[in-house]
Amino acid sequence: MKIADIEIKTPVILAPMAGVTTLAYREFMKPFGVGLSYSEMISDCGLVYGNALTREYAKTSKIDHPVGLQLFGSDPAIAKKAIAILEGIASYDILDVNLGCPVYKVTKTGAGSAMLKDPNTLYTYMREVVSSSHKPVSTKIRLGWDSQSINVREVASLLEKAGVSLISIHARTAKQAYSGTPDYSKIENLASELSVPLCVSGDIYTPEDAKKAMDISGAKFVMVARGGLGNPKLVTNINHLLMGEDLEPPSTLLEEVDYAERFAKMLIEQDGEHSAIMQLRGLIPHFFSGFPGYKKIRAEISVNIKTYEDLQKIFTGIRNRSRL
Ligand SMILES: Cc1cc2nc3c(=O)[nH]c(=O)nc-3n(C[C@H](O)[C@H](O)[C@H](O)COP(=O)(O)O)c2cc1C
Repeated sequence: MKIADIEIKTPVILAPMAGVTTLAYREFMKPFGVGLSYSEMISDCGLVYGNALTREYAKTSKIDHPVGLQLFGSDPAIAKKAIAILEGIASYDILDVNLGCPVYKVTKTGAGSAMLKDPNTLYTYMREVVSSSHKPVSTKIRLGWDSQSINVREVASLLEKAGVSLISIHARTAKQAYSGTPDYSKIENLASELSVPLCVSGDIYTPEDAKKAMDISGAKFVMVARGGLGNPKLVTNINHLLMGEDLEPPSTLLEEVDYAERFAKMLIEQDGEHSAIMQLRGLIPHFFSGFPGYKKIRAEISVNIKTYEDLQKIFTGIRNRSRL
C-alpha cells in the first residue's frame, strides 16, 4: 500500500494524540504492526516563534518511519514558514494538517475543526499548505462542525482538489468532541467518490470495529487511538483479521506488566524521570484495565507514583500476586 510515494506496510495507522503519541509511544507501538504513525499536533506559531518544547514534538527516529508530523494553524503564511522550519529540523515522511481538533484553545484561533465551518477558506489554506510542502500532505477532519452542518463529503472533495494524499476522518462532529457514537453512515461508500485514499477513526476498540468502519466507508486505512491505550495487541489483531488470519489471545496480566514496564523505560529514556512519571500516571493504568481487582492499583498509579522505583514496586507486586 502507498500514500503518495510512501510505502506503508500495514493498514493500521497510529492516530495523532496530544499528550500521548510522543516518539517513545510511537516506538513502543510500532512493533505491534503499525503501518504509519502520527505525532502529537504541533503549533505552527510555536515553531515560527521558536518555542523549544514545540520543536521537541517534531523529533523522530530511524525506527519511527514512516511517520507523519501533524501541524495545526489557520494562517497560510505562518504555515509556510512552519513547514520550512520543519523541513529543516525534522526527518519525517508525511505532513499532516489537523482540521479536526475541537478544543476551544485551538478553534478560537480559526484552526482545527473551526476550519470545517468555512470550506472555501479551508480549501485555500490547504492548497497553500500542499504547495509549500515538499512532503506529501495528509489531513484529519471530522464529519462537520455539528449535527446540523455535516459537510464531510463536500470537504473531502475539496481536500482531494487541494492535492492531499490521504484523508483521515474521525466520524464524529466537532461538537461531539470525544463522546457519543461515531456515525459511519455519514461516510458510507465515501472512498468510491474519491481517488485519494481514506483512513477512518472513531471508537476502534476491537478488530471487528476496524473492519466494519473500513467496510462501510471503503477506507484503506484505519486509525487506532484510545482503543490502543494499554492494548497494543489491538494493532496486531486488526492486521490479523484484515488478512483473514487467526487472532492472538488477549494479553495476560503478566504480558501487560511487561508492556507497561517496557513503555515506562522508553518514556523515561526520552523525557527523563520526572516528566515521564507525570505522563505515566495517565498512561500506565490503561495496561491494567479490564482485570478484576485492579481498580485500586490503577488509582494508586495515577495519583501516587513519584519515581520509577515506585512504579517498579507496583510491577513487582502485580507479578508476585499473579503468580500466587
Ligand atoms: C487524548 C487525545 C488526544 C488527541 N489528540 C489529537 C491530535 O493531536 N490530533 C488529532 O488529529 N486528533 C487527536 N485526537 C483524536 C484521535 O486521533 C482520534 O481521532 C479520536 O480519539 C477518535 O478515535 P477513538 O474514538 O478510537 O479514540 C486525540 C484524541 C485523544 C483521546
